[in-house]
Amino acid sequence: MSDPRPFFTDVSGAPAPGEPDYWQPVIFRGDEIAAEIARLCDIERPADGRRSSLFTHPRAPESSPSLAPGIRVSLDVLLPGESTTPRRHTSTQVGFAIAGTGRVRIGDTVHDVGRYDAWNHPSWRPYTVTNTGDEPFVRFTYSNAPLLEKMNVHLVEDLAEMPEARPDAFPDGASEDDAADAADEAGDARRTSPFGTFELADRAMLMPYETLINPPSLPSPALVWPWEGVKSHLDQLEALGDTYIGRRLYLLYNPLTGRTNGTTPSFFATITIRPPSIVDRPHRHVSAAINYFFHGSGWSRVGGKRYEWGAGDLMLTAPGWMIHHHASDDGDRVYELTIQDQPLNIAMESLLWQENLKHPPRVLGSEDGFATNRALRPATVGTAGG
Ligand SMILES: [Fe+2]
Repeated sequence: MSDPRPFFTDVSGAPAPGEPDYWQPVIFRGDEIAAEIARLCDIERPADGRRSSLFTHPRAPESSPSLAPGIRVSLDVLLPGESTTPRRHTSTQVGFAIAGTGRVRIGDTVHDVGRYDAWNHPSWRPYTVTNTGDEPFVRFTYSNAPLLEKMNVHLVEDLAEMPEARPDAFPDGASEDDAADAADEAGDARRTSPFGTFELADRAMLMPYETLINPPSLPSPALVWPWEGVKSHLDQLEALGDTYIGRRLYLLYNPLTGRTNGTTPSFFATITIRPPSIVDRPHRHVSAAINYFFHGSGWSRVGGKRYEWGAGDLMLTAPGWMIHHHASDDGDRVYELTIQDQPLNIAMESLLWQENLKHPPRVLGSEDGFATNRALRPATVGTAGG
């Protein structure tokens, strides 16, 4: 077979493309999810133990199913006593349990998790999941695999068994802070080494190969955010009152992600509490958002169209740069998990964010961001989000 021939695409004088053709919001209703869980419970156990179904947007390419262009969400079920076989991959994930109890083993880290607990999966770390209870263990998994598939570099490896302990895990008594300090020192040493990076012209630097193949590194921790603790802090945000213009949420922050404010290097997970009858201001952001509403009910307006939702619904709420806002109904408070590909967009310097439509957007992460009207107190510094 002959080699494929590359060619030139003439774009001379081509106008800037118009706005992207965003994927429309879609909702998976709680009863549809329950029916899919029941179906997954009824099938014969697959050889790798993975009873799994992907929430698929009708616009997703057949070869790369996903719910947003860069976010894949799977519904994963294990019957009592079942485990998945070990696997690792270059994608990173957020896990969120919605029913039952399980044990998540990621490398040397073991988490016992239950309903509404969240955790992260670092890249290329072998893991298994086991149902430790007497009812189905059901979880959502949010993955950045679609982007890696687009780049044709998503590597996935099934393993015969979980490997022995990693020698580079945190030694006894060491902490992530120690690891960060060590990395800072290593970074400083690199900058001052005989092969160091140095200025060529005004702020334009030259970096040698020795640093290119040994960038400052941090151990990537496998963390868990137990719902009980998250909820107790979240419920205190209800006291912010009716005049508060921000979002009552906490980001499940993984310190590895530094300035990009992530749970993984690609995604943040936030959990929001909405007291009854709270209507957010319309806003928009380049990051896509997927919300799982697990208590209460309300509505969203996205691109001018209104969508009602209730407990148990999973929704693509913010596709691309569409203007949107959310509101809680009278009656009960709302709890929701939001996954956004915000850290990835901060790293790419593509995170346009317009918090107030009367003011221009800003590139978060490289320009000053926005503020709320919350009074600053020690140890409770507010954060943009939602
Ligand atoms: Fe939003």
